[in-house]
Amino acid sequence: MSILVLGGAGYIGSHAVKKLVEQGEDVIVVDNLSTGYRKAVDARAKFYECDIADGSAMDAVFNENDIKGVFHFAAFSLVGESMEQPLKYFQNNTGTMLTLLEKLNEHDVKHLVFSSTAAVYGEPEEVPIHEEVPKHPSSPYGDSKLMMEKIISWVSRTTDLNFVSLRYFNVAGASKDSTIGESHDPETHLIPIVLERVLGKREKLYVFGNDYDTKDGTCIRDYIHVEDLIDAHILALKYLMDGGNSNIFNLGYNRGYSILEIIKAAEKVTGQKIEFEYRDRRAGDPSILIADSGKAMDTLGWQPKHNKIHEIIADAWNWHQKNPDGWMTDEKAD
Ligand code: UFG
Repeated sequence: MSILVLGGAGYIGSHAVKKLVEQGEDVIVVDNLSTGYRKAVDARAKFYECDIADGSAMDAVFNENDIKGVFHFAAFSLVGESMEQPLKYFQNNTGTMLTLLEKLNEHDVKHLVFSSTAAVYGEPEEVPIHEEVPKHPSSPYGDSKLMMEKIISWVSRTTDLNFVSLRYFNVAGASKDSTIGESHDPETHLIPIVLERVLGKREKLYVFGNDYDTKDGTCIRDYIHVEDLIDAHILALKYLMDGGNSNIFNLGYNRGYSILEIIKAAEKVTGQKIEFEYRDRRAGDPSILIADSGKAMDTLGWQPKHNKIHEIIADAWNWHQKNPDGWMTDEKAD
């Protein structure tokens, strides 16, 4: 029996593939390589370059493999971009979900672990945020994922499908052995951008907004190590296979850092002074996102192991130093 990883060539998906194969699982990857990189995928996994929206290609994947569970990482995930191109998000994320759910039903796949996001909450009424607070997404990205959760939930009530939705806060860091890490084109995430600035890969570092209602005026986020995040996915699949009901969990560390604190921590890790400039707020950004992840700990038995911000940045730094251009070498130039 195999585990299917959709979006397994992306930043988070590739870390899941690596950990699963290291644990002896038979892993199948589907990725259309629109934002992912073939070389990020562990060579021990079986790879299909295809789009989830392509129903007949997905039929072949399910027919050729005996799939016991699915991790669904494949989506567009940029808050800022979604404010400018909302339809891209509703079509690719939400629309494609319909085809996927049809295929899961047709091929009798009963377990789905879904990548959701803290962006479903929007500007929170209280922090830390627990799963039941009202959801008011402040970006099409967040709403595209909230809609996906709702669609999965309705389908799970009428079929044999059981799902776990994991609402990630800000995922960062790289694999402990530095063989894979975060690489986007273009990069928009704070920690890799800060480290690219240190490496001289960018001329400027901009901090978007210093007039938020936070301790230093900059946005606060709950940064979670990608390795801990993947542990939670593996526990979630086990929970479903052991008969657990469909469920939703936050994944973060119940604490937050401002942008200025992240820059300070990066200065400590890299040993270099990091200059920056303030810019206007970025559209769609909530001021503060901090997870209450007690439910994941209690129900899944999830125990974070790498929650020190210096460790998260140091692991990212190790990867970036070894791969200053990320995965963007000749492959994307072809
Ligand atoms: N930021 C800067 N300068 C930059 C890049 C980012 O100031 O060059 C700021 C952003 O404005 C934001 C903070 O740093 O205030 C974090 O931004 P990221 O782009 O790193 O992350 P986001 O919080 O926008 O989004 C990430 C994921 C989403 C997820 C969200 C949940 O991309 O998928 O975390 O918190 F929904």
